[in-house]
Amino acid sequence: MVKAIFLLSFLATAVIAVEVHRCGDAYPHPTAVVIPGCNAMPCPVPNNSDFSFAVEFESSIATNSLAVNVTASLGPFNLPYDTPEHLRDGCANIDANCPLTAGQRVTMRGTAPVEAPIIGVTVRMRFEITGDSAQKVVCFAADVRLVA
Ligand SMILES: *[C@@H]1O[C@H](CO)[C@@H](O)[C@H](O)[C@H]1NC(C)=O
Ligand SMILES: *[C@@H]1O[C@H](CO)[C@@H](O)[C@H](O)[C@H]1NC(C)=O
Repeated sequence: MVKAIFLLSFLATAVIAVEVHRCGDAYPHPTAVVIPGCNAMPCPVPNNSDFSFAVEFESSIATNSLAVNVTASLGPFNLPYDTPEHLRDGCANIDANCPLTAGQRVTMRGTAPVEAPIIGVTVRMRFEITGDSAQKVVCFAADVRLVA
């Protein structure tokens, strides 16, 4: 019984892919993005807590490296945001080993801390992953609503 409940809550919170924004036509879009506790944007995130995500994508190119760049914006303004150290090397957070072949499907998991000066605002978090020679591998943006 406990197992069944656990399984159900796991399915309810973890397996539903959320629709995320595209970064633009020049950027390959992920095949799925899962944000636990969020099935529609904006995703509620308490101030000063970690926002977790899993992104499944097919590498657009063969690459030895995956560099992850996270940026945050509030409306038209870019917020100062340093990509957390533990996220920068995408190869360290995927369910496969680099190098990747073109078309290889992988899932990257990570957590990014979220903080903002005011509660109730919606911050757009953009995740861009580039490969060798700064080639675009995948990109998406998620709206995160800061809650108390
Ligand atoms: C991350 O992306 C932003 C916005 O596109 C860019 O200004 C910045 O130089 C990038 N940082 C790195 C380390 O690539
Ligand atoms: C959110 O957390 C940051 C960092 O601790 C803090 O500076 C900021 O005031 C907090 N925001 C609110 C609305 O409490």
